[in-house]
Amino acid sequence: MSQELWTAVDHFISEALIPSDPALDAALESSAASGLPSIQVSPSQGKLLHLMARAQGARRILEIGTLGGYSTIWLARALPPGGRLITLEADPKHAEVARANLSRAGLAGEVEVRLGRALDILPGILAEGLGPFDLVFIDADKPNIPAYVRWSLRLTRPGSLVIVDNIVRTGAVIDPTSTDPNVIGAREMYNLLAKEPRLCATAIQTVGSKGYDGFVVALVAAEP
Ligand code: SAH
Ligand code: DHB
Ligand code: MG
Repeated sequence: MSQELWTAVDHFISEALIPSDPALDAALESSAASGLPSIQVSPSQGKLLHLMARAQGARRILEIGTLGGYSTIWLARALPPGGRLITLEADPKHAEVARANLSRAGLAGEVEVRLGRALDILPGILAEGLGPFDLVFIDADKPNIPAYVRWSLRLTRPGSLVIVDNIVRTGAVIDPTSTDPNVIGAREMYNLLAKEPRLCATAIQTVGSKGYDGFVVALVAAEP
């Protein structure tokens, strides 16, 4: 099956099920106009994040890797009144574009964009007692995925969901000899998930306009 067909079906699904939305469309337009890379989740993945957060009844959401805030908008719209989302972004320009996009979406009150490298910010989030988070979405630098999964365990509770983007990497993830730090990060994450009794995980492959990739969904469980 060709990537063209997968992408065409993804468009078909989006057109059938995901009506065009002024705030999401504006976020994509302003991100592109500001020169941000077009590496946000697809509309169908964004809506899946939204549905998982709603099904979860998530009141506190942590996102690592904001870009222009496209996935942030999908997630934040799942929050009930009084819910909060914190999203971490290392690039000042990305954070600025995201803040504008979130304001335009009417979400400035419930979303906080924290600027800095996630590994520098996460200790403060723990110390401030901003958790436990009901859902964590990991979508920043890929070599640090294992570290972000370990941080997620400290910042969640049994029953929380941890979702990790980009864990197939055009299939390169199956190569044990890969020297690509992104692939090594993803492979270490699989080892961590396999041996961590507090995480019950699976991974789903995706194909779309960004190519062949996938995401992990992990449920935080009490230690057996
Ligand atoms: N979640 C977004 C896409 C994120 S792209 C969406 O789907 O809409 C990855 C983002 O992670 C980029 O904006 C990049 O600047 C940011 N990033 C990279 N390294 C980071 C780090 N160490 N800490 C925080 N953010 C980082
Ligand atoms: C790429 C895709 C992503 O979803 C991401 O978070 C980072 C990079 C990419 O295709 O390069
Ligand atoms: Mg991603």
